[in-house]
This record gives sequence, structure tokens and C-alpha cells, in this order.
Amino acid sequence: MEKLIKILSRIVEDAFEQCGYERNFGNVTISNRPDLCQFQCNGALPASKKYKKSPIQIANEILEILKNTNVFKDVFSAGPGFININIKDNFLADYLNDMSKDKKYGCSKPAKPMTIIVDYGGANVAKPLHVGHLRAAIIGEAIKRISRFLGHNVIGDVHLGDWGLQIGMVISEIRRRMPELPYFVESYKGEYPEEAPFTIDELEEIYPAASSLAKSNIEAMEEARKATFELQSGRKGYIALWKHILNVSVEDLKRNYSALNVEFDLWMGESDSQKYINEMVNYLEENNYTHKSEGALVIDVAKETDTYTIPPIIILKSDGAILYSTTDLATIWQRVKDYNPDQIIYVVDKRQGLHFEQVFRCAKKTRIVNENLSFDFIGFGTMNGKDGRPFKTREGGVMRLQDLIRIIQDNVVSKLDDNKGFSESEIYDIARKVGLSALKYGDLSNQVTKDYIFDMEKFSYFEGNTGPYILYTTVRIKSILRKASEEKMNNIDVICEPYSQSERDLMLKLSKFNEVIEFSFLEKAPNKLCEYIYDLSNLFNKFYHENKIISEENIEKKNSWLSLITLTKNILETSLDLLGIEVPDRM
Ligand code: ARG
Repeated sequence: MEKLIKILSRIVEDAFEQCGYERNFGNVTISNRPDLCQFQCNGALPASKKYKKSPIQIANEILEILKNTNVFKDVFSAGPGFININIKDNFLADYLNDMSKDKKYGCSKPAKPMTIIVDYGGANVAKPLHVGHLRAAIIGEAIKRISRFLGHNVIGDVHLGDWGLQIGMVISEIRRRMPELPYFVESYKGEYPEEAPFTIDELEEIYPAASSLAKSNIEAMEEARKATFELQSGRKGYIALWKHILNVSVEDLKRNYSALNVEFDLWMGESDSQKYINEMVNYLEENNYTHKSEGALVIDVAKETDTYTIPPIIILKSDGAILYSTTDLATIWQRVKDYNPDQIIYVVDKRQGLHFEQVFRCAKKTRIVNENLSFDFIGFGTMNGKDGRPFKTREGGVMRLQDLIRIIQDNVVSKLDDNKGFSESEIYDIARKVGLSALKYGDLSNQVTKDYIFDMEKFSYFEGNTGPYILYTTVRIKSILRKASEEKMNNIDVICEPYSQSERDLMLKLSKFNEVIEFSFLEKAPNKLCEYIYDLSNLFNKFYHENKIISEENIEKKNSWLSLITLTKNILETSLDLLGIEVPDRM
């Protein structure tokens, strides 16, 4: 379906053309004086400069034409020559009826769907998931869902950190503890055990021990480096042990992500790029893109127009070891080969911005990707505690994700109304869904790049700009519709002209759904969708408090209302789903 604002623009543009002016002066925007009008067109002002006529004169000529269409209720000029527009109620109602019948509520498929890879999550194997990974998962999931909803071919990849120094640390720590294991015997020829020599709980204890040792002890650090290098060079025993680390850790990660309602299409990682590294480095060397700098193999990526220093990207260290930049480049190499994407979106902490700038420039400069591929770095800010510093546990440690989820769920349970007679299993379901809504909405409602304060109390209020408030509104509509269907009031398929201003406002907001989705997609801004459903919830609640829907006696009116709130519920549920938030039946 065409966006409402586009339809209106087209009509006003036609009018400008008819009067002998350039079409594009007819562009219509949302009114910035909603108390006066719904839409406006300011084109008469710039047109007056071009055509040397007063703006008010031009506006009046346009108005004469617009008055004769059947779309506008009233159009009038204001100020120096603004055209203020209100549309006919039946036009609005028709638009909503079309929307209600459309599977995507008015969002049309792009003319040329793109293949988009969303690189998000970015968990590191053998390390527990912590709140730092929360944002990547939540934001990336929303971006993935919104893109897919619009009809693009979207592939979400967790891109695990599974090939770096932390693995070398874990391998050397296991070696210290269990030197007799066959993985460490270089001459070993037999089969390696099928069972991992540790559980996830043990692994979670092994990594911090290894890491703090390596930090304080140069030899241990050197050992970990060596083990990493040997692993990357394919040492058999280490590869076998690494597979155990990967399996045990990934099983746990999958559990965690699924508790967050985050689903990846691909569970690939840095390690999957290893087999392309030789090929890629040969290509880069043969085409003379690289040069040596202090023994390392590097590529210059600075440009004359740079306003800050962008150092050369290092492809191989002087000892031949690979780096984060190497695996990221080789991953692009692999993605181009396997998926030929039009766009790759990275949802990563904004502090990695320079790294990605180097990687993107290098990939373009060396033609690993063609010019048309667009890279999009969505660098997010830090989630801080109330003290304004990165969020920590009360003891000052790193808060684990599963603990965070539990705390917020407990908080939600304490807010539930005892009188509603929820069963044990229902409480569990509500706590899970409402808890996640608090967490996710609290995150997504902020502009992605900004740091924000994680305030559990605030996020879990049932009122105000919070996830639980939006859920509460949706659940309220569900409950009205349940009652209506008990009364067999299911003859609900036409929205009629609004009977009141609050109803009209609600309808107008609903009509903007496709516009908001498209904007959120283009700008990669889930916060715009949050803003929209918050406004929508407020408008619904105003309408709801002004009208008694179930006891309304005028059947036509009641049916129309039921259709209207059905659409409202569908838009809320769809939007929440795009944000990765589920709605309970009751709460
Ligand atoms: N594992 C990385 C980290 O925790 C994030 C990975 C982001 N994606 C990428 N392609 N580098 O910082």
C-alpha cells in the first residue's frame, strides 16, 4: 500500500503542476501544529521566490484545486502561505480498512529486495555472556526482524568470538590442570575422547582463572599466545580440545539467547574464516595492496580528506599471527562468496568504530567487495548503572545475563495484582514476557548510539514510557476482544468514520504504521518504532477511557470500534514482535 503521506503529496503535487508550478513544491509533511491540522504543505514559500509571486497567492491557487477533490475535509492557508490540510474521515477510515485486510498492514515489499547480513550477538566462546552482549543481541534482533518484515532477504549471524586469545588461555589452563590428557601429547596418534573433559560450570571457572593468571604472569600470557597460534595453525590435539570448548559453550549460549527470544540463522564465528585467510592474503599481496611495516603485513587505508588519523590495517603480525582485523576481512571474503549480500550490518559496541572503519575501507579499496555493497556500522553506547558507570553487580563484578533476567522477572512478579488469580504457570509466563519487555524496551527506546542508564525500577513500571505499559495496553485490548467474542460480537470488519476526536487521533496514528516501519528500517532506529507504539498506546487509552465499547448500544458504532481496536492490537503486537517482545494473554 502506498503511504498516506505519499498519496496526499501526489495530489498536492498534481495541483502545483496544474497551476503551472514545479511538482516538487507540493510535498506534504506531517503537521507541526496538530492542534490546527493533520498535514501541511509549505511549498508555496520557496515557489514564491522562484515564480516571483506572493506565497499566499500561490497557496490560494492550490487551495482552489484541492477543495474540489474528495480527499480533504478542509484545506486552508495560514501565516505567510502555509497550506494546512485535514483529510476526510471516510478517506481515513477507508485507508484503515485496506490496512486491516493487508497481511503487512500497509507495508509494501521493496521493488528490489536486498540480501542483508546482520552481524550481531558477537558472544565470545568460553566466556559467560554478560550485559555488554545484551545490547548487541537486542538491537540486532530488532533490526533483523524489521528488515525481514519489509521483505528483504535477511541473514542473522552471531559471529562468535571463537578463535582468539581467550581460547589459547583456556587451552593452557586445562593443560596446567590435566597435563596427562591426550590433547597435549604431540605424538598422539589415537582417537580423541568424544566427551569433553569439562562441564560448562567448570569452563566458566577455568576462563576467569586463566585470564587473571595471564594478566599477572608474562610466561602464562606467552603460553596462551603460543597455544592460540598453534591452534590457528591447525595443531590436531588443540583443534580437538577447541571443538569441545566450542560445543559446551555454544550449547550454553544457545540457551541464553533463546531465553532472550533472540534467534540466529547462522552460528558461524571467527574460526570459520580461517580457511579463507591464505587465499585472501595471497590475493592482497599479489595485487600489491600490502606492504611491510616493522615486520607486519599492513594496508594503508587513510584518505586525504580524513579529519582524524586512521592507521593502516594490520593483516598479519610480524610473527605471522592473525588478528581481529584479519578474521573480519576474511569473514567478508567468505560472505561475499557464499551470499553475495547487498548490505552487511554490524551491531557492535561503538568503541569498535575505528576497527570497522579500517576493515570497511580495506575491503572496498582492495575490491574484496564491489562498490555497491554497503557496510553499515551500528555502534551502540554503553549500558550504565545508576552511578553512570558501566553496569555492574552489587559486588562490583560483571553481571551475568541470566542473573539480570532473573532479577528483573522477580521485580515484575512483585508488581502483579494478587486479585487476578493467576496460576503458578501463568505467573511464570507473565514474568518472563513482561520482564523481557522491560529489559528490551528499556534498551530499544533509546537512540542506539547513546549510553543509557539501566534503571530496573523505572523500566518495569506498568505506566509511562515502558515495555510493560505497552504490553498492558495490548493485553487490555485483547481482554475487550475476548469479552466481545464471548458475546458473539464477531461481525467486525468495517471501520466507520470516527465519532470523536480521540478516535480520529487514534486512526490517524494507525495510518502511519508503514511510514514508521520504513523509517526505522532506513535509519536502523528501533527507537522510532518504540516512540510510535508509545504514542499509539496513549491514544488508544484516551479513546478507551472516553468510550464504553462493550456496552455501546449502537451496533454499527460498536462494530466499528471493535474493528478499530482489533487493528490497534494487531499493530501493537506486530510492532512488539518486531522488537523481539512477546505479549502475554493476561497480566
Ligand atoms: N566478539 C566481539 C566482541 O565481543 C564482537 C564481534 C562483532 N562482530 C564482528 N564481526 N567483529 O567484542
